[in-house]
Amino acid sequence: MTHRLRVAEVVAETPDAHSLIFTVPPTLAAEFAYRPGQYLTVMVPHNGGSVARCYSLSSSPHTDTDLKITVKRVRDGQASNWICDHVVAGETLELLPPAGEFTPASLDDDLLLLAGGSGITPGMGIIKSVLAHGSGRVTLVYANRDEQSVIFAAELAELAERHGDRLTVTHWLDSERGAPDATAFAALLKPKNRIDAYVCGPEPFVAVARDALQKAGVAPERVHVERFEVEQEKSMDATLEVEIDGQTHRLPWPAGSRMLDVIIGAGLNPPFSCRQGHCGACALRMLRGKVDLVNNEVLEQEDFDEGYILACQALARSDEVSVTYY
Ligand code: FES
Repeated sequence: MTHRLRVAEVVAETPDAHSLIFTVPPTLAAEFAYRPGQYLTVMVPHNGGSVARCYSLSSSPHTDTDLKITVKRVRDGQASNWICDHVVAGETLELLPPAGEFTPASLDDDLLLLAGGSGITPGMGIIKSVLAHGSGRVTLVYANRDEQSVIFAAELAELAERHGDRLTVTHWLDSERGAPDATAFAALLKPKNRIDAYVCGPEPFVAVARDALQKAGVAPERVHVERFEVEQEKSMDATLEVEIDGQTHRLPWPAGSRMLDVIIGAGLNPPFSCRQGHCGACALRMLRGKVDLVNNEVLEQEDFDEGYILACQALARSDEVSVTYY
């Protein structure tokens, strides 16, 4: 269920990244409790309705009283540009409570963080929690286009200074070293190849990071990836027809949005839990059309044969898609 929360403050982190700070009223404190690395879902106006977009929390539940998300402009990205251009302090936004699995099992374990651009956002929450509330050590490799685009540069420098060898930050700037390189990353990571790795960033960065972790000998089950990159080039604008709660709705489905977010954005109440393709709570049946699933760790071939898909992972691949919850 969505709630309207007030934006207490907007912080311009870099020329193209804004943080929104939300104050949670006491009545919603339990519902908006979170773990470091989780995300909030924001309803953003679109064509007279709204679309849901996920943004990682850069705040830590262990060091920050308010919730903070950090949003970087995506070229031609309607939601991120709307947020950076229009949202000011005092405004209220409609949000879903925190969710997500990109969070360390223990704050006492050492961990690797690989972040590309705004992929630092969940990492910031994790770093602050580990340093303040755990005993783990964090090795961060953080890639950016140039020095001006480094989000949280001063805060990271200050944390590294304050916590000595518990936080090691290696910046990779494309302007100085070229695009991220898996072999060079692997050399940095190899001494730490027996600890869990958390990767967040745009798709090309994630591909390089995965390759680097494999080259460095990090076991695949130790690699955790967060992806919010809007995959507009891989999907299309469509119309979604959905049968739910005894009614049929026709909804505009913008390219790059997940089916579940479109259904929630229309004010309907679909079932879901993890929103990561892990649990199957959002499964529903296709009647017509074509979709791609970004991630699937739960459905088997026989489920697909019966028409089941995961709404939280579905991107449109045909201009008409029809689905049912029955
Ligand atoms: Fe868990 Fe979609 S909500 S798989």
